[in-house]
Amino acid sequence: MSDLKEKCESLSGISALPPEEALAILAKEFAGKATFSTSFSWEDQAIAHLIATNNIPVKIFTLDTGRLFEETYYVWSRTKEQYNIQIEAYYPNQTLLQEFVADKGPNSFYEAVENRKTCCGIRKVEPLKRALAGNELWITGLRSEHSPERENLPQLEYDESNNIIKYHPLLHWSTEELKSFIYSNGIPYNTLHDKGFVSIGCAPCTRAVREGEDFRAGRWWWENKSTKECGLHAHS
Ligand code: ADX
Ligand code: SF4
Repeated sequence: MSDLKEKCESLSGISALPPEEALAILAKEFAGKATFSTSFSWEDQAIAHLIATNNIPVKIFTLDTGRLFEETYYVWSRTKEQYNIQIEAYYPNQTLLQEFVADKGPNSFYEAVENRKTCCGIRKVEPLKRALAGNELWITGLRSEHSPERENLPQLEYDESNNIIKYHPLLHWSTEELKSFIYSNGIPYNTLHDKGFVSIGCAPCTRAVREGEDFRAGRWWWENKSTKECGLHAHS
């Protein structure tokens, strides 16, 4: 068994603790090797708030795909100002992107699932690998309510594909709990959330959801449910 897998098992009790306490313990346990990925979603903003206000020493990064919404760049700037934190941006490999766009055009993701997956691979997954390199703990904003695949995730899990331990501090928070935490603490959030957007990714691949639609219905909405994942989180 890998050392990290064993370590993950030995730390499973952490899930019983409030997120800020668990984060502080994990930051110590993985000193210099803990990193938080933010897309500036509601979840990620709440986690950034917990990290910043409790001075928890973990790195913070975002994957700037180059196709994000203006509103996302705006909340990114506001977060940096309000909390005075370092947020490291990772960008797609220029050569890979240039060749892909030259070959397929800028919006080929609408034409074929294969193109969409290649675009996500170049703009998100390859930069993610660089962002995770050298780290042992990856903090994310995944929540059980997002999808059936995320419903049964363990809060602390060993991710074999990236050989890293993942921690999802808000896994069991409801959307109502999350919104109330955001509003009562004056946390900056993406204003698209006020316009019917729930799960927010790249601008051309995200739309608002309609009454009764599920949480991720607005992501890659033209695709069949079975193909909808960008490869950041295996099987979720
Ligand atoms: S995705 O798999 O559909 O793209 P989702 O938008 O649900 O992911 O976000 C889940 C978590 O993945 C976020 O809380 C965040 O930790 C991470 N994440 C998603 N997109 C990004 C991004 N562009 N940059 C950094 N982290 C991201
Ligand atoms: Fe490309 Fe859309 Fe994936 Fe963003 S979400 S990387 S624009 S296919």
